[in-house]
Amino acid sequence: MSHSLKFTLAVSTVFAASAMFSACNKQEAALSKSLSEGGAEVAAQTSKSVVVYFSQTGATKKLAQVIKEARHADDFELLLVKPFPSTYDSTIAEVRAERESKQWPALVNAKLNVDKYDTVFLGYPIMFGTFTPPIYTFLEANDLSGKVVVPFCTYGSGGRKASSEELKTLEPNANVTLAYGISNKRINAEGGVETAKAEVAAFFGNLETGATEEMLMGGFSEQRPLTAEDSAAFAEGTKDYAYLGLKPLSVSSQVVAGMNYLFVCEMNAFGGPTVQTNVKIFKPLPGRGEAQLIGVEK
Ligand SMILES: Cc1cc2nc3c(=O)[nH]c(=O)nc-3n(C[C@H](O)[C@H](O)[C@H](O)COP(=O)(O)O)c2cc1C
Repeated sequence: MSHSLKFTLAVSTVFAASAMFSACNKQEAALSKSLSEGGAEVAAQTSKSVVVYFSQTGATKKLAQVIKEARHADDFELLLVKPFPSTYDSTIAEVRAERESKQWPALVNAKLNVDKYDTVFLGYPIMFGTFTPPIYTFLEANDLSGKVVVPFCTYGSGGRKASSEELKTLEPNANVTLAYGISNKRINAEGGVETAKAEVAAFFGNLETGATEEMLMGGFSEQRPLTAEDSAAFAEGTKDYAYLGLKPLSVSSQVVAGMNYLFVCEMNAFGGPTVQTNVKIFKPLPGRGEAQLIGVEK
C-alpha cells in the first residue's frame, strides 16, 4: 500500500472513530498522523522516530529491534555507568534501594538530541511493577514535551498498563499512547520474535485507528462462571506463576485463532495482601501449543 493511501486510510478511520469519541479526537489524529509519518517511506528519507530502551538481560533489546525494524526508527540503548549486578537477587536489592532513595542510576548516555524526533518509542523491563530505574534517569535528562511517546515493555507477569500510567504522570506534556508489552517467557520462546513482530504490527494498527484500552477490551463478552475447560486453560497458562497466588473468580472469552481469555482473579503475590486483578491468557488452536499467560493487570 502506498504511503499516502495508508495515511489517508489511517486518518479517515480516525475521523470516523472521533465522531464517537469526540473528547480525544484532536489528540488521536495528531498521534495517528505522527505515527503514519514515522512509517517506512518517509522515515527512509528522514528518520523522525527513535527507539530508546534499556535492557538488562536481552528481552527488551529483542523487542526494541522488532520495533526499530517495524518503524524504520533510529535506536538508542541506554547504558548504565555501573551495570546491574549479575544475579537476580542482588539486582532486586539494588533496585529496591534505588526506589527507596529515589537516587536513580547514572547513565553513560543519558542525554538524547530529542529535537531531531517527533516520536520516541520508550522500552524497558518491568521492575517492581513499573519501569526500570534507568528510565527515570533518562526522563530527568530529557524534555519529552510535545513528543509522541509510545511505551513498550517486557515483564515476568505484567506491568504494562501501570508503567504507562506512571509515564503519563511524569510526562504530562507528552502524548503518551497505548503501551505494548510481552512476557519474557513468550518473547524468549522458540518463534518468540515472530510472535512479537505479529503483535507489534497489530498494535500499530490499533494506534493508527486511535484505539483506547477500553476499545481493545470491547471484544470480550460479559464475565461468567468458569467451565471445566476455562479452568483447564487457566491452570495450564499459570502453572509457572504459583508465586502470584492467583484464584480465578470469573471469565470472559473471545474466539480468535484459538481463544483469548480474560479472567478476573484474586491475587496475593508472594503471600502479600489479596487484591483483584485481570489475567489474560491465550490458548492456541488444538495441537499448536499450550495456553500462555499474556499478562496480569488491573
Ligand atoms: C529487579 C527486578 C524486578 C522485577 N520486577 C518485576 C515485576 O514487578 N513484574 C514483572 O512482571 N516482572 C518483573 N521482573 C522481570 C523482568 O521484567 C523481565 O525479566 C524482563 O523481561 C527483563 O527484561 P530484559 O531482559 O530486557 O532485562 C523483574 C526483574 C528484575 C531483575
